[in-house]
Amino acid sequence: MKNIKKLIAEKLAEGILALGAPEAPAATDLAAMLEYPPDDKMGDLALPCFKLSRTLRRAPVQIAAALAACLAGLAPVGRAEAVNGYLNITLSEEYLAGTVLDGILTAGKSYGSSEEGKGKRVVLDYSSPNVAKPFHIGHLGTTVIGHSLKKLHEFHGYECVGINYLGDWGTQFGKLIVAYKKWGNKEMIEEGGIDKLVELYVMINNAISGNEEKGIPADPALGDAARAEFKKLELGDEENLALWRWFIDISLAEYEKTYKQLGITFDSYKGESFYTDKMPAQVEKLREMGLLKIDDGASIVELEPYGMPPCLILKRDGSTLYPTRDIAAAVYRKETYHFDKAIYVTSAGQSLHFAQWFKVVELMGYPWFGELVHVPYGTVSINGAKLATRTGNVVLLKDLFRAAIEEVSAIMAEKNPDIDDAAAVAEAVGVGAIVFYYLSNSRIKDINFVMEDALNFDGNTGPYAQYTYARTCAVLRRAEEAGVADAQIAITAPDEAALLKVLARFPEKVSAAIADYEPSVITRYILDVAAAFNRFYHNCAILSAENESVRATRVALTRATNVVLGNAFPLICLKTMEKI
Ligand code: ARG
Repeated sequence: MKNIKKLIAEKLAEGILALGAPEAPAATDLAAMLEYPPDDKMGDLALPCFKLSRTLRRAPVQIAAALAACLAGLAPVGRAEAVNGYLNITLSEEYLAGTVLDGILTAGKSYGSSEEGKGKRVVLDYSSPNVAKPFHIGHLGTTVIGHSLKKLHEFHGYECVGINYLGDWGTQFGKLIVAYKKWGNKEMIEEGGIDKLVELYVMINNAISGNEEKGIPADPALGDAARAEFKKLELGDEENLALWRWFIDISLAEYEKTYKQLGITFDSYKGESFYTDKMPAQVEKLREMGLLKIDDGASIVELEPYGMPPCLILKRDGSTLYPTRDIAAAVYRKETYHFDKAIYVTSAGQSLHFAQWFKVVELMGYPWFGELVHVPYGTVSINGAKLATRTGNVVLLKDLFRAAIEEVSAIMAEKNPDIDDAAAVAEAVGVGAIVFYYLSNSRIKDINFVMEDALNFDGNTGPYAQYTYARTCAVLRRAEEAGVADAQIAITAPDEAALLKVLARFPEKVSAAIADYEPSVITRYILDVAAAFNRFYHNCAILSAENESVRATRVALTRATNVVLGNAFPLICLKTMEKI
């Protein structure tokens, strides 16, 4: 089903051409200009015509009047009026109850989707934790934004490849090996898993750099030892390679648990180590093209003309760096997946890194440089405390999830003790609450986590959204038992129309979320749907409505809400449950 804004915009484009525009404006631009008025007395959509008055050389009032006339008779439009230079549009209730509602019910699982991305491939690099370092709440952003963008693109017909670019190579392994040999043993790691690895990692960092608070003096010799162990690893030392693989396996098993709670899977786990033998060719190409400059022994690409500090390619000792690996990985991915777009989701702290190496790829003459997209997000703190990685006072993602699940279990034990499969429901609600809270924010904004707010069953939260979905399921179950058919549909109450108007916006919201790489568009939309449905639910009797036709209409509206929420939840990693 075409979205309503688009239908109206196409007609408006004709009208604007008729008013003497040199060429018809793009319908998508016009659709973007259509606003939702703050007060629905002003109609359902409004076009501010002063924005057109320059090109059309007419007064906004005149334009609004002419466009109002041009919309007459267009099916979705009930009324179009010119008011003070605005074109105010009220949607037709027949159209809403007929075409829109029908469209949602017929489309079902595909309502809101499109084929726009058909035949195109998108590669998404997200989550990508650094092995052996803690998987902390700073990773929540890349993990859920990345997965959400994948789901959104799939919903628009793109073929998506989700890549977990594990940080499985680098000097941190040298440190970990030293720590393990010094303080660890096999049993200890087998028992303690990743937590023990992280503990060792924190210990070695404290020992190398010293920790005044804890009275630990700095021991630079340990730093040298770590570099030596990493060198051995690079040279293929059997013992170190075995340790390295083991550390990765332990870490992966742990990440998998978190991914499972979120319903996330990856198509590839090729991490940084995979690109070791793919970097020399790119370094060689840079050298041949004369792009490499030696600076104090290191090899760099000068980016001064582009207003950026140089991109580091090789250290003085010839070892490669983070950008070097990203360049080699991008080339490999292009050759392997022939992507039309490659999306990287990381914290905004890495924005410069991405801008730099994207530029280097461009300078290298790769024609696909414009297909690389960096999607940054803001910092996460808990009740104000920032999260550091190396010092040990970090909040682990799994602990955050665990805390949420425990609290939900307690609430459920009180509210609904007889529910089936209580543990699974508590997990879905607890994890969902955190994801929902996080994804309600515009991604670039810094966010402070307040657990109470995330878990508030009566607030604008995940539990509230999931509860609303379960409510639609309950109504539909009862409707089925009572044998109500959803036929003879007609709108009789304002809350019905209001709900339908919100449901009608779903396709447009999906497009906006994709265009801006912004899952929060969907999260907020879900809240709009929940609010409209609950208002309808409280104000309109459904199964006890006065006659068959009203009953049928309301059951159909409930079903349509169920379809929209059911389609929207997975787009933001939120699970749907029939009962809570
Ligand atoms: N492992 C990195 C980190 O945790 C993120 C990797 C992001 N992806 C990339 N292609 N650089 O900071």
